[in-house]
Amino acid sequence: MTTVQLQNGVVLPSLGFGTFQIWDQGAAASAVAAALGVGYRLIDTAAGYFNEEGVGRGLKASGVPRDQVVLTSKLWPTEASYEGAKVALRRSLTKLGVDYLDVYLLHQALGDYYGAWRAMQEAQAAGLVRAIGVSNFGAERLVDLATFSGAVPAIDQIQRHPFKQQRLTVAAAAHLGVAIEAWQPLAHAAPALFNHPVVTAIAAAHRATVGQVVLAWQLQQGVIVIPKSTHLARMQENFAAQALTLTAAELEAMAGLDRAPQDPGPQNTPDLIARLTKIDPAGPHSG
Ligand SMILES: NC(=O)c1ccc[n+]([C@@H]2O[C@H](COP(=O)([O-])OP(=O)(O)OC[C@H]3O[C@@H](n4cnc5c(N)ncnc54)[C@H](OP(=O)(O)O)[C@@H]3O)[C@@H](O)[C@H]2O)c1
Repeated sequence: MTTVQLQNGVVLPSLGFGTFQIWDQGAAASAVAAALGVGYRLIDTAAGYFNEEGVGRGLKASGVPRDQVVLTSKLWPTEASYEGAKVALRRSLTKLGVDYLDVYLLHQALGDYYGAWRAMQEAQAAGLVRAIGVSNFGAERLVDLATFSGAVPAIDQIQRHPFKQQRLTVAAAAHLGVAIEAWQPLAHAAPALFNHPVVTAIAAAHRATVGQVVLAWQLQQGVIVIPKSTHLARMQENFAAQALTLTAAELEAMAGLDRAPQDPGPQNTPDLIARLTKIDPAGPHSG
């Protein structure tokens, strides 16, 4: 299994399993148990996915020992404060049915995330979390937090796929020694990507699938990927991407697919903030 070592020494599988939009607890439990059966050893969830109970049940049902699985959850921005983070982390641990998380991320660069970050550092020192990081932080926010908070995030989980390569954020992360984890690594199977002639030609050359090519392209750059699927065959297909090696010319051709090379990174627009702050991870999922 390919791995990435975080700057505090924690080692992560570089191909994990995402659980966003698996709202039903039973479905989340089944998907996580199936993914662990396939061989995945990194599971990504969040308080804002409303499925931590199901994820925890799937983990137990799989029979895979807790210490062999890297479990990630995230702090929702409405709870981003020193006290809020402590309460939210306890709730996530309880819902997941575990006594520690491997990775805990600030879900967004919103709210009093400096206060939350202090609580997360304390949680790490107390052994409740093995590594702490951020998600959806662009270069500017990432450099700010890393420089002024006293702790460099271990990870920045950002939206990243061939059409959206986030070069500025990736470069800032590399400079700081922050691992990049790609959410929506398959671009949510967008037809424009899955039918793109550059990608389909590379897939044909390797007798691989487009999904495998897209994941292998990220893995070869040292990026952690967390594709989601509720179908066993796709879980297996995506997991097998680790065995695929693209040539330098193929990697370059994929790099050429970026639709916004000067993308400044995640932007907290008024619309996005309004949408995110309507979600309350302490309550039921409102659909
Ligand atoms: N930090 C954040 O703000 C944030 C935001 C979004 C997501 N995430 C994390 O990142 C994970 C992945 O992102 P995502 O779920 O949005 O998108 P994704 O993994 O890029 O794509 C998932 C979609 O692609 C389909 N799919 C999966 N494998 C496929 C394959 N080999 N061929 C064709 N279609 C395939 C899935 O369908 P089926 O399920 O029907 O197979 C699903 O509709 C999430 O699950 C979550 O853990 C984080």
